[in-house]
Amino acid sequence: MDIKLDVNSKPNEQDQKIQKNLDLIKNRIVVFSGKGGVGKTTVAVNLSFALLRQGSSVGLLDADITGPNVPKMVGLNDMPGIDEKSKQIIPQIKDGLQVISIAPMIPADAPIIWRGPLRSGAITQFLSDVVWGQLDFLLADLPPGTGDEVLTTAQKMLPQMAIVVTTPQEVSLIDCRRAVNMAKKLQIKKIAVVENMSGLICPHCGKTIDLFGSGGGEKMAQEMGVAFLGKIPMEVSTRKSGDEGKPVVIENPESETGKAFLEIAKNTVSYLNQ
Ligand SMILES: Nc1ncnc2c1ncn2[C@@H]1O[C@H](COP(=O)(O)OP(=O)(O)OP(=O)(O)O)[C@@H](O)[C@H]1O
Ligand SMILES: [Mg+2]
Repeated sequence: MDIKLDVNSKPNEQDQKIQKNLDLIKNRIVVFSGKGGVGKTTVAVNLSFALLRQGSSVGLLDADITGPNVPKMVGLNDMPGIDEKSKQIIPQIKDGLQVISIAPMIPADAPIIWRGPLRSGAITQFLSDVVWGQLDFLLADLPPGTGDEVLTTAQKMLPQMAIVVTTPQEVSLIDCRRAVNMAKKLQIKKIAVVENMSGLICPHCGKTIDLFGSGGGEKMAQEMGVAFLGKIPMEVSTRKSGDEGKPVVIENPESETGKAFLEIAKNTVSYLNQ
C-alpha cells in the first residue's frame, strides 16, 4: 500500500502554526536509517555544525523521542525556554545551533514508554509550538527504523531532502535499502546516502582497518539511483567527542572525520541547489 501524504488535508490550527514555521525555513532535512547505532545522531549533529560553519542558520530537531541523544552529543543540559506572551517554546542554543529535544523535559534515566501517537504528537508539537524563526536549515534526527516518527516527521515537516545513514556491511545495507525506499514512497524529492564507520583509523599507526568494509554505501546509492554525499571514517576521538558533547566538527575540524563532515556539508548544499 502506498503511503499518502496529508498535504491536502484541511488545515487545523496546529497545521497552520506548522505552516507558519515552515514558511520561514528554507531547507528541511531528515536524517534516518533502517538500522540503529549507525551514526544518525553523530551525522545530524556534525552536519548541523558544519552547515553553521559555512555561515548558515541551522536548527536541529531531535525526533528520537524514546532515545533522545542530541542534547548529550551537542553538550546541552538546560530546559528550553517558554515565551511568556505567546506560550511558545524557545529552542536551546549551543554555539549558534538551535536545538529542541524531549531529553531535558524528562528525568534522566526515566524510560520514555510512549506509544506511537504520543511520540508523533511530541514531534508535531516541536514543529508547531517552537519558535524556530528564520532558518537556512532545519535537520531532524530520527530514531532507527521506518516507524511512526519517520512518517510523522515526513508528513508534517515536508522535508526536501532525506539523508540515509548506513555503515558499509551488508546487514546495515539491507535496512538502509528499506529506508531509501521509504523516502521514495514518502515522495521526498532529494534522497542521499552517507556511509559512516567507513574504515577504522588506528590511533596508534594511523593505518585504516576495514572493520565493516568500505564502499558498500556508495555502491548501494548508485544501484538505487540516489545521491551519495560521502564516507566518514571511524575515529576514537569522534566517539569521545560525542560522549563529551563536543562535536568533532567544532573540536577537531582537521581530523579525518571532521574533514569528511565538512565535505558532506558542501555536498549537501550543492545537491540541494541542483
Ligand atoms: N565515525 C564515527 N567514528 C567513531 N565513532 C562514531 C562514529 N559515528 C558514530 N560513532 C559512535 O557510535 C555510537 C553510535 O552513534 P549514534 O548514536 O550517532 O548512532 P545512531 O544511529 O544515532 O544510534 P540510534 O539508532 O541509537 O539513534 C556513538 O557512541 C557515536 O559516538
Ligand atoms: Mg540516534
